[in-house]
Amino acid sequence: MTGAAWSPDSWHASPAIQQPTYADSTEVERVVGRLAQLPPLVTSWEIEALREQIAAAQQGRAFVLQGGDCAENFDECTSENIVRKLKILLQMSVVLTAGLKRPIVRVGRMAGQFAKPRSADIETRGDVSLPSYRGDLVNRLAFTAEAREPNPELLLRGYERAALTLNFIRSLIDGGFADLHHPENWDLDFVGHSASAAEYHRLVERIADSLDFFESITGTAISQARRVDFYTSHEALHLLYEQAQTRFLEHRDGWYNLTTHFPWIGMRTAAADGAHVEYCRGLRNPIGVKVGGEMSDDDLRRLVTTLNPDAEAGRLTLIHRFGAGKINDGLPPMIETVASLGIPVLWMCDPMHGNTESVANGRKTRRFDNILGELEAAFRIHHDAGTVLGGVHLELTGEHVTECIGGARGLDADGLEHAYRTQVDPRLNYEQAMEVALRIADRAVAQATP
Ligand code: PEP
Ligand code: CO
Repeated sequence: MTGAAWSPDSWHASPAIQQPTYADSTEVERVVGRLAQLPPLVTSWEIEALREQIAAAQQGRAFVLQGGDCAENFDECTSENIVRKLKILLQMSVVLTAGLKRPIVRVGRMAGQFAKPRSADIETRGDVSLPSYRGDLVNRLAFTAEAREPNPELLLRGYERAALTLNFIRSLIDGGFADLHHPENWDLDFVGHSASAAEYHRLVERIADSLDFFESITGTAISQARRVDFYTSHEALHLLYEQAQTRFLEHRDGWYNLTTHFPWIGMRTAAADGAHVEYCRGLRNPIGVKVGGEMSDDDLRRLVTTLNPDAEAGRLTLIHRFGAGKINDGLPPMIETVASLGIPVLWMCDPMHGNTESVANGRKTRRFDNILGELEAAFRIHHDAGTVLGGVHLELTGEHVTECIGGARGLDADGLEHAYRTQVDPRLNYEQAMEVALRIADRAVAQATP
């Protein structure tokens, strides 16, 4: 409730969906108490810096690239995985800087993206029914009673992995890993495999030229930059986990979630009077919310006013995810509703979650053309409405997985079998992610060229 007293645990009085049921509440209390004593993962300085950058993106002075796995899992907390994910995000950000000629704010879905919402509490196979897998923060994937039993101890294991991940990211960045985003290190071989290879080569050249030009006029060599800001985000789904690391900082006179810079609320848990919105409204962190066609005008109004009652810049990001076939009808009225409130938001497009489908072999996938189509529609609609599309939210991995159909290599439904590894949503692979960045950048360069 807006205006009512807030505390890190005031959400307990609101309907809290998507929470696991633990058998042993004493053990849950012990773990949450322990979590609350562990040192924070991020600082309020970083969080405030991100808020400012989001405020800049709202005005078209920066652009936010938010990306990473649908779900991280504990086994994939490895050096190679972290390096590859950081590398793809850095390289995409260089491409985007060249095209958009704005600083790119890099936000990983990393170091805490361990909990997933599920459509059903129970999964049934044959005559066996077990609790659904809710991410490694809650239970394990194997279809056995033991693995699926929600285990509070996993909250601590998740927190530790988040800390390990973030620690490694910070070391890589401080140690000059930024060099890796030098254009010479881009793996662009796939460009030659495209049916329109010539067009792609032109596109890459145009972006490389634009990068040179940008560097020469600003006097900064983007590819040599030693100092790279990198922020983390995850879905603030498991409210006890989030609550445990929510601290009041005297010197800032405010409450901060110190597990991540940028907590976001998923679409299923975005009800204005639900526990997730109640929890997030009291934080000083910038907050993201997934919104789509299912949300009524009235719900959207209540959501935006509850999360940003003082109309602060940098406070609220609306991450819209309609689907390529629905954005044309869905986004314009949403923009109008928000405009009528006079509350600033950062508009970000998630072209992934409205475009999930199942193909004949049963695989869950997304078509590259739909992803790109939704993104292009988002740029166009915001431009026509006089609003700014200030960011993009992608599910991607630096690995060469085969989970999304299409892209320059023309991956088809049968090709999905080669390296289909996701346990949840299908991700763009390294090449497809670079291709999305190239296409966004090219669009911007083309628009700026008379
Ligand atoms: C997600 O981003 O993985 C997700 C669950 O998204 P949404 O809430 O938009 O469905
Ligand atoms: Co997802």
